Amino acid sequence: MKVLVVGSGGREHAIIWKLKRDNPEILLYCAPGNSGMREMAVIVPISANDMHGLAAFAKREHIDLTIVGTEEPLVRGIVNYFEKENLRIFGPTKKAALLEGSKAYAKGFMEKHHIPTASCAVFHDYENASAYARDHGAPLVVKADGLAAGKGVLVCETFEQADNALRRLLLDQQFAEAGEKVVVEDKLEGPEVSVLAFCDGKTLALMASAKDYKRALDGDKGANTGGMGAVSPAPGYTPEIEKACMREIFMPTLEALKGEGIVYKGIIYFGLMLTSSGPKVIEYNCRLGDPEAQAVLPRLRTNLLDVILAVVNGELDKISLEWDGRASACVVLASDGYPGSYIKGRSISGLQQTPERLLVFHAGTAEETGADGASCTVTNGGRVLDLVCLGEDAESAARAVYEAVPAISFQGMMYRKDIGNGAEALGEC
Ligand SMILES: Nc1ncnc2c1ncn2[C@@H]1O[C@H](COP(=O)(O)OP(=O)(O)OP(=O)(O)O)[C@@H](O)[C@H]1O
Ligand SMILES: [Mg+2]
Repeated sequence: MKVLVVGSGGREHAIIWKLKRDNPEILLYCAPGNSGMREMAVIVPISANDMHGLAAFAKREHIDLTIVGTEEPLVRGIVNYFEKENLRIFGPTKKAALLEGSKAYAKGFMEKHHIPTASCAVFHDYENASAYARDHGAPLVVKADGLAAGKGVLVCETFEQADNALRRLLLDQQFAEAGEKVVVEDKLEGPEVSVLAFCDGKTLALMASAKDYKRALDGDKGANTGGMGAVSPAPGYTPEIEKACMREIFMPTLEALKGEGIVYKGIIYFGLMLTSSGPKVIEYNCRLGDPEAQAVLPRLRTNLLDVILAVVNGELDKISLEWDGRASACVVLASDGYPGSYIKGRSISGLQQTPERLLVFHAGTAEETGADGASCTVTNGGRVLDLVCLGEDAESAARAVYEAVPAISFQGMMYRKDIGNGAEALGEC
């Protein structure tokens, strides 16, 4: 069997690692991939957004299944295009992916179907949006409607900050068409939990919960990033809370999708906030989280390929997901300056001999040939490497990762030192 994975980050490396571990016989391809995947997959130099190029490749190479890891091709409609070309693909259609592709649409969907979320208003013009923010009062969260690589959300403590955010989005058009519309919503308080699920349109199969460390610096300080680490399970996500989420959020979302005539096939990601008035949806995403996938997939005992094929065939009810009872922790090694600007091309040492229990997923890396003709791995992105260990609890899993970190180095390497801290104290499920 030939499987093509679309994307190039640590999440896609974790997908490839899991597929290969469960099914050593399959032939894997990754487009555009990264250098860390080369031992397990053929790297295909086609952009993740080039759906015509990818479909032509899939036909030429007789690819049996394409798995889309990243959101942009899904939101652009790669699944519709592949299906029209009679190619088997895993992921939601363009209409289904709107739950991530348009925050205004997602908010309308939740309001219509009484799924708990922060109340909000949607604006196309600065004057009305600013007047609303002034009347409503801070704190507020201002969000670009479309995809903005995690940078289109501004949590504003004062009216001035909100007004400034609205100016940047609606007057300066900082996010181009992704910011033509904005959502202004109430700021909620509480711990955040990511719950990902497989969905075949009829059945939801929930994955183990995870917590994403979104801020750049220890103690949840600094700028929002794509994610600096993750632990699974998420601290504070108790069986009671899971039950409430099932009743008030997960099943109502599935029923709402059915009610809208959307056959949602793929991954659905529930970004939740556990507020004092119950769990609320912060966002939906239409793919695995990055770095949540790196923490969650190593805990999945079930063959990932079987689950994905069950989704594609509409037979998810026949699968029951089995989980490793141990916890996991993922620490992201990033380039100094990230999520702002950073320098690429710095050589990475220490990757040849890493401890057996340490999983190393590459995110932003490339291969370079030095003056002596030998090839070496260099940094090629803001998030460079994702290091993952399993352990009795998240804290000891993280400790095992931190023990391995000093052996790996590149100039300007930075990482959070507090992943997993105090995780088990809060109770989890
Ligand atoms: N209503 C809210 N109240 C408080 N914090 C919020 C709210 N909405 C968003 N946030 C914060 O901003 C972060 C990003 O928001 P959101 O998940 O909507 O954006 P995103 O760009 O789609 O994120 P991602 O890149 O994870 O898909 C959230 O994880 C949360 O920390
Ligand atoms: Mg999102």
